[in-house]
Amino acid sequence: MSTSRSSAHRPSRVGPATGRQAGPLDVDALIDDPGTGIIVCCGSGGVGKTTTSAALALRAAERGRRVVVLTIDPARRLAQSMGIEELDNTPRPVVGVEGTGSLDAMMLDMKRTFDEVVLSQASPEKAKQILANPFYIALSSSFAGTQEYMAMEKLGQIHRDAQAQGTYDLIVVDTPPSRSALDFLDAPERLSSFLDGRFVRLLLTPAKGPAKLMTAGFSLITNALTRILGAQFLKDLQTFVTALDTVFGGFRQRAQQTYSLLKADGTAFLVVAAPEADALREAEYFVERLSEDDMPLAGLVVNRASPEPAGELSADEAMTAAERLRRTASASPTASLTAGLLRLHADRVRMVQRERTLRDRFATAHPQVPTVVVPALAGDVHDLGGLRTVGGLLGGTADGSTSPA
Ligand SMILES: Nc1ncnc2c1ncn2[C@@H]1O[C@H](COP(=O)(O)OP(=O)(O)O)[C@@H](O)[C@H]1O
Ligand SMILES: [Mg+2]
Repeated sequence: MSTSRSSAHRPSRVGPATGRQAGPLDVDALIDDPGTGIIVCCGSGGVGKTTTSAALALRAAERGRRVVVLTIDPARRLAQSMGIEELDNTPRPVVGVEGTGSLDAMMLDMKRTFDEVVLSQASPEKAKQILANPFYIALSSSFAGTQEYMAMEKLGQIHRDAQAQGTYDLIVVDTPPSRSALDFLDAPERLSSFLDGRFVRLLLTPAKGPAKLMTAGFSLITNALTRILGAQFLKDLQTFVTALDTVFGGFRQRAQQTYSLLKADGTAFLVVAAPEADALREAEYFVERLSEDDMPLAGLVVNRASPEPAGELSADEAMTAAERLRRTASASPTASLTAGLLRLHADRVRMVQRERTLRDRFATAHPQVPTVVVPALAGDVHDLGGLRTVGGLLGGTADGSTSPA
């Protein structure tokens, strides 16, 4: 692993503010550094995590790296253009990548990832039993945090394969569209506490046969539950929990391993945010949470910023001119159209100013976090061309070319 990271992109264990401004984030230095092995894009829903992950992955590939991008919920057309419409949980080569590197992409299939873990951990007999159990089916598709945990599980798998077979030298990870900023990092913890939870312990008790008191308590509860839920329900639940006991040891251990992997040098977190008060507040929360967990933060991506309006006219000047036109030439359609355009210009200038103020506020609160601003494109980002353009904006070459400006 390289030790020659330049400070412009070196992920920092963000500590207390030092008073020094970190300045712009050098995305190209980050993705070009052979020491960068994993990039995780996190942030609240809808800010552009999936787009940023895919754009970064494509740019890194076109600059020569062997990249795999693990996406969670790509928009339909984007998935199509990357050849990952099918949820088969296997990375597939993306067609149309230029240059000497390579890009594979996959879309996470949460349920299948869960099944794969069961199959790899339990005996075939036991695995079959678990996979068919109604509780397993419910848990694997809807347990709170399952998606977060499975994303970590898949990252761990791909990382192990990449290490063993030398398939990839950079893994870019998209994160689930969780409401809560904590979900991704909390997944191993949450799974552990679920498994160590009293309910599960109680259900496992007869199988392990400890204290009489517990057993007495258990049969009381069992009887009550049987009355309410029916014998089959309880039997399914007990079979499930007992069977999973063997499997979960492996689960927990690997969740911890992946958690350590995220903390390691060579991993870089990018927090993605929209230039809005709420999104930036959530981004602050992310930055703080990553710091609490001692996770390596590379920087902040402010995505979909309002593009700077052309021309020198300030918002006030535009409004004054519009007002003057309205008063002196109110009858002329051309005049009222011009006044409308002037007001529109004023709105856009003010929007850009508002966004800059919000970014400045963030920078003042977190001066150690390098930032890159990506303007909103005119339309959605749904093909390689669009990803290339976003990649260019991330890397600081506004024309979207792959080589440094
Ligand atoms: N810089 C951008 N300019 C224009 N559209 C964008 C930009 N970034 C993202 N989008 C669009 O915004 C929508 C949400 O982006 P997405 O990456 O799916 O967000 P997330 O993964 O955070 O939920 C998508 O339709 C995407 O094409
Ligand atoms: Mg997404």
